[in-house]
Amino acid sequence: MKPIILAMPGSARMASAIALYLQTDVAMPTVRAFPDGETYLRIDRAFEGRPVAIVDTLSRPDAKFLPLVFAADAARDLGASKVGLVAPYLAYMRQDRRFEPGEAITSRSVARLISGSFDWLVTVDPHLHRYKSLSEIYTIPAQALHATDLMGAWIRANVENPFLIGPDEESLQGVRDVARIADAPFTVLQKTRLGDRDVETRLRDPVDLTERTPVLVDDIISSGETMLEALRLVKSSSPNQPVCVAVHGIFADQSDVRLQAEGAYLVTSNTIAHPSNAIDASDLLAAAIAQIADAKT
Ligand code: R5P
Repeated sequence: MKPIILAMPGSARMASAIALYLQTDVAMPTVRAFPDGETYLRIDRAFEGRPVAIVDTLSRPDAKFLPLVFAADAARDLGASKVGLVAPYLAYMRQDRRFEPGEAITSRSVARLISGSFDWLVTVDPHLHRYKSLSEIYTIPAQALHATDLMGAWIRANVENPFLIGPDEESLQGVRDVARIADAPFTVLQKTRLGDRDVETRLRDPVDLTERTPVLVDDIISSGETMLEALRLVKSSSPNQPVCVAVHGIFADQSDVRLQAEGAYLVTSNTIAHPSNAIDASDLLAAAIAQIADAKT
């Protein structure tokens, strides 16, 4: 049975694109704050045994989280047979270990909370570094989709003579996969993170970019420091404008503005809405939702 798509605030465009692909209805809850800051949420329709897929991209997640849980509970109360979460960007995945004694491993806490409210989860390129798969922390069926092919196809179609550069060793697998689709050479840099907003980057091996367009590829741009450092390292080596391509453009601290001021052309996927969105992940998500909803109802 086709799921009804429920669009949380900030995810309406992605939710509509998914609903269009699936040829199904989209509903939007009313969400507002009471004077005391508590959340009011209302869903103005019944689900009558239909599955529901709630679309909520979890950038800047803390304010979104309680409304999301309330929406899942309300959908069940209104007769949803199953309630799935479509989180084009899944937050908190980078807090995957205790770096200092006493630190919260928030990826585990968030996984436990989401697993308690939803029947399944679909997301795009979650930051899987020390976890090999979402099933290490999620107890519900959790599917990680990859934007690799979409990124590679965008680079192949839009960038002349690209040379792909991953800004750190963690990006190796992703950059290699994108480079294969883009049919381009690649390397990765060495990064040392000194703080939330402080990274150092260096080239492992010299690369000749004189006739190339440097394309920096990463999963997430958050503070932007990783991309900025990589950009500063490579931009003087090429006559062409460097391109920064990321799946998820969080752009904290106005890092989009700072990257552009450093000369970057920014390209992101629409997992998080931003003017740099040039890569459409809605069909990828919709196809996965169709499969999961079919399998689970
Ligand atoms: C790190 O492991 C990720 O792949 C990204 O490189 C990182 O999250 C980017 O963060 P920021 O933009 O804050 O440097």
